[in-house]
Amino acid sequence: MPETWHLIPGFRSCSMPVISSKYEALAVDGGTPVRKTLLPYGRQSIGEDDIQSVVDVLRSDWLTTGPRVTEFEEAFAARVQAKYAVSFSSGTAALHGAAFAAGLRPGDEAITAPMTFAATANCVLYQGATPVFADVSADTLNLDPDQVELRISPRTRALLPVDYAGHPADLDVILELAVRHGLVVIEDACHALGAEYRGRLTGSIADLTVFSFHPVKHLATGEGGMVTTNRAEYAEALRRFRNHGISSDARQRQRDGQWHYEMVALGFNYRLTDIACALGLSQLKKLEANLSRRREIAARYQTAFRALAEVTAPAIRTEVNPAWHLYPIRLNLERLRTNRAQVFQALRAENIGVNVHYIPVHLHPYYRDRFGYRGGEYPVAENAYERLISLPMFHGMSDQDVDDVIAAVKKVTLAFAL
Ligand SMILES: Cc1ncc(COP(=O)(O)O)c(C=O)c1O
Repeated sequence: MPETWHLIPGFRSCSMPVISSKYEALAVDGGTPVRKTLLPYGRQSIGEDDIQSVVDVLRSDWLTTGPRVTEFEEAFAARVQAKYAVSFSSGTAALHGAAFAAGLRPGDEAITAPMTFAATANCVLYQGATPVFADVSADTLNLDPDQVELRISPRTRALLPVDYAGHPADLDVILELAVRHGLVVIEDACHALGAEYRGRLTGSIADLTVFSFHPVKHLATGEGGMVTTNRAEYAEALRRFRNHGISSDARQRQRDGQWHYEMVALGFNYRLTDIACALGLSQLKKLEANLSRRREIAARYQTAFRALAEVTAPAIRTEVNPAWHLYPIRLNLERLRTNRAQVFQALRAENIGVNVHYIPVHLHPYYRDRFGYRGGEYPVAENAYERLISLPMFHGMSDQDVDDVIAAVKKVTLAFAL
């Protein structure tokens, strides 16, 4: 700790006041917070139309796997320009379905990024296969195709890129690698509904693409997920897998006046309800508006933070139009006399609901214990992790909310600047 540590904002001491007159007093040191109430990092927006849509289903004959499921799937497939969309009870269940449809089984490997939510790698384990991590590119924090190539082995069956924060992965390069090595590409687009890559929409590009409808996402159904694909046999396998491995659903049997059904594979109950699909349908109508609002917010952030030497704003490659699920900045720690934990605490005290995405998956105790990771294996992801802070990003944010976030980041980083 430096000699002058007590002069550093945020290093609280009972015996000494910590603020030099050069700084506006930070809330963490007893100053006035930028906002009176906490601004969360993400939040759903539910309107009267959404509520009505759900109420209509509650008054109908079907609460699960009824007409809304098919309507939602068809509308979703049309929106992302895919041939088929199969709904699941969560993004995690959808990932599991995709891993099953891709044919992952014990002995296989699937290559994915460590900079993601654990569910991306867990779905490989659910199938008894092994997730192999490849480091990410320093600008986007998406899978680095060169690192992927180094890890392809005779056991590799799938590549699992993640569209981190809503910025599409290097899909053409990854697809080309997959074709060359005979692999299936499962894109984890849980952050990237509505994102574009070289003019194409996520959901229409990879063999299988997975989405999540968790409340902080672009479209909320409570819990919920979807897999899109252009191949009929994948769609068929996905539908069976989410319904116990049974070859027809209850509504189909009722329509056909049939009682007979066959379980042809081992599946799960991963069905999304009609209630959730009604909400999904009504939310889907607002997707365009939600995406534009997120892009507006991101543009304001980009302008503000590109001018701030203490932070690095997210990179945007020329070939993409991101969907901005998250807005993760990186702290330029070389220019700050503190670490991420203190900046995080200081921003929280200013009532800015910051978060961190992600603790690299291989560093979680489960992965360390099972696979022997020690840290240091994926230096780009690990270095980024030390610097990352996700700022609030959701379509319901007002301009004042955005201004508050910018003001708080400037206030805190200036106070800690070298
Ligand atoms: C990258 C990624 N993959 C998968 C998931 C899992 O989705 P869900 O929460 O819908 O199960 C998430 C959830 O946030 C995610 O961020």
